Amino acid sequence: MTAFSADWLALREPFDLAARAGSAATLDLRGMARRMRRDARPLEVLDLACGTGANLRALAPCLGGAQRWLLVDHDPRLLAALPGVFVAWSRAQGLAMNAGAECLRIDGTDWNAEVRWHRADLAGTLETLPFADAQLVTAAALLDLVSVSWLDALFERVRRTSAAMFFALSVDGRVSWEPVVEEDDAVHQLFAAHQRRDKGFGPALGCEAPAMAAAQLAALGYGLTRSRSDWHIEEMTMLQAMIDGMGSAALEQGPSAHALVQAWCTQRRASVARSRLHVGHVDLLALP
Ligand SMILES: C[S@@+](CC[C@H](N)C(=O)[O-])C[C@H]1O[C@@H](n2cnc3c(N)ncnc32)[C@H](O)[C@@H]1O
Repeated sequence: MTAFSADWLALREPFDLAARAGSAATLDLRGMARRMRRDARPLEVLDLACGTGANLRALAPCLGGAQRWLLVDHDPRLLAALPGVFVAWSRAQGLAMNAGAECLRIDGTDWNAEVRWHRADLAGTLETLPFADAQLVTAAALLDLVSVSWLDALFERVRRTSAAMFFALSVDGRVSWEPVVEEDDAVHQLFAAHQRRDKGFGPALGCEAPAMAAAQLAALGYGLTRSRSDWHIEEMTMLQAMIDGMGSAALEQGPSAHALVQAWCTQRRASVARSRLHVGHVDLLALP
């Protein structure tokens, strides 16, 4: 399972959904959608770094009404998997869906969405994306990957259109395990440093992202609502994946800490059946 493989995105999606359900109670997403809609036309939504579309699956039912989404990602494998993931999801949810080669139409109880997708490298092509059409620009689990200057450019671009912005599931650095292991802090520090490595957008913000985004948006005059959307993980497969992912990132970041990281992985794997992991995230809603 690689960093952004379809398998990893599918594994994390239920944890994201549970985390977002807690956060949605304090965010008036439906009110925001009502306010941003122009006339009776569908709400235009631009989803950055969409993966296989998890942000739409979580957000569309919260927004309500008619919606038209453009989903953007640079990974052709994720975009190729996207229609199939929506077919399976619609079936599981009992939703009506029509699938064309380049467009899907999903009908919920009090919402519907026309969905298109587009391949683009967001690190290089912001100017070519149709920001002018969007009333809501959104992303999930993206902000930790980007740099301050990229955020500046994004916000400046969106500000010109007066769209709302909603950034879900940005890590904020709070990580805790039960039971505690002596090496936890050292491994978390290496992992946090690894999160700040360049992911293609310049030096990554990592867990500074939500605070930085909030400060920049406040300076631009946006009205902000923040809400925690933390993962609470007790399920074995997800715990194993987190141990593997944190362990290999920590090793890559600090090869000289090899013995310490190995000891951490060994102890974590041995206690996985009675472990819990809490990972802090923040959802950020910005209204023009
Ligand atoms: C953590 S995943 C989140 C995916 C999705 N938003 C979700 O919540 O499941 C990060 C996403 O960013 C995308 N990504 C990373 N760098 C990118 C770039 N330069 N341009 C476009 N997408 C990028 C990856 O392909 C991946 O889909």
